[in-house]
Amino acid sequence: MSTELQFIVNAGGVLSGDLRVPGDKSISHRSIMLGALAEGVTHIHGFLEGEDALATLQAFRAMGVEINGPTAGEVTIQGVGMRGLRAPGQALDLGNSGTSMRLLSGLLAGQGFPVTLLGDASLSKRPMGRVVRPLQQMGADIETTGAGTAPLVMKPVRQLSGIQYVMPVASAQVKSCLLLAGLYAEGETRVTEPAPTRDHTERMLQTFGYPVTRSGEQCGVQGGGRLIACDLDVPADISSAAFFLVGASIAEGSALLLRHVGVNPTRCGVINILRLMGADIDLLHAREAGGEPVADLRVRSAPLRGIHIPHDQIPLAIDEFPVLFVAAACAEGETVLTGAEELRVKESDRIQVMADGLAALGIEVRTTQDGIVIQGGQLQAGEVDSHGDHRIAMAFAIAALRAQGPIRIRDCANVNTSFPDFAAFAKRSGLAIEAAHA
Ligand code: S3P
Repeated sequence: MSTELQFIVNAGGVLSGDLRVPGDKSISHRSIMLGALAEGVTHIHGFLEGEDALATLQAFRAMGVEINGPTAGEVTIQGVGMRGLRAPGQALDLGNSGTSMRLLSGLLAGQGFPVTLLGDASLSKRPMGRVVRPLQQMGADIETTGAGTAPLVMKPVRQLSGIQYVMPVASAQVKSCLLLAGLYAEGETRVTEPAPTRDHTERMLQTFGYPVTRSGEQCGVQGGGRLIACDLDVPADISSAAFFLVGASIAEGSALLLRHVGVNPTRCGVINILRLMGADIDLLHAREAGGEPVADLRVRSAPLRGIHIPHDQIPLAIDEFPVLFVAAACAEGETVLTGAEELRVKESDRIQVMADGLAALGIEVRTTQDGIVIQGGQLQAGEVDSHGDHRIAMAFAIAALRAQGPIRIRDCANVNTSFPDFAAFAKRSGLAIEAAHA
């Protein structure tokens, strides 16, 4: 009989200490992809040993790339060059990882072998038409289910052609997919985004010596170039740090130092939004590591107030909304989010699942098609279901800091996709959390 991982988090607590959360998930995925296609040996430091990044790593092993590690965040990749991947013996199973599937669909569209990409139940429900349609315009041969979902069945084509693509949604996964396909295309592939999204692919391509043109909302690559191996330092993931930024803000008396966090401006929405709500967050020792801006973040508790979340911050905080909704539940007054329909197609429908959980804990919430309205109030004890969504599980664990009694969170195993050992880590910093199989 299968058991389910649950978190039981007692109410209250103060967060303190000096922490380094695990490596950035987005950057870890890209480090494997580009390291595998590079000429020479790439060393990665600070790699995220979470299931999502490991799914990418295993996919490249299955395509014949020799990869050592990860051992304490160290990975060594023997690059095979742009044309060195081999057909995998079976379909590539990417588990829960949308980034693996969307970026790999682009990277593999121009290879000389057939390949099928699969995922778990959640990933198999997520929209893939957003990558498949433009890839087909480039000449790729890809089939999805009738609903436009995985499995993606890909067949080799003679040659992809570069396109100029105006993205209908602000999505770094779509942009990155097309840039990676563009490495194999004839001519230039140029992508225009409706709003800035994370630019790790553009930065890392340049770190590997591949020219990327960037101007305003456009970026592009010329097909047929080469990647040169390098050493990469993966910063701590701001999306994982976000739980502690909110936790220390809402738990009175808290003070935390979060070390070596990636503070790329295309990822800093959570800091900007929390500051607008009144949070006390300082960026210390701002520096650059492996082509990415990094800083230590100092956060101290502060009273938060409800705000209207500015639209330009949405893509910059797209993964942090579950825990931002917890901040809103603890704030004075109303927080209003609109224009965020993308949240409905993440690892779960994050608008509905968060609204259900907050309501179960006694918070007044109202959902709209593209957002949510949250009235700050007193969190009660209760039970919530994360629906297998890692960030929802961690967000509700943080909510217990301000609840009146224990919170039980169901279906938490997928926390390992992005933050292995979250419970032990959070406990060390002051959260009264236990993980148990039920
Ligand atoms: C990611 C982009 C975002 C984000 C995801 C990681 C990436 O997805 O939600 O967790 O690494 O490019 P979208 O591009 O679909 O918004």
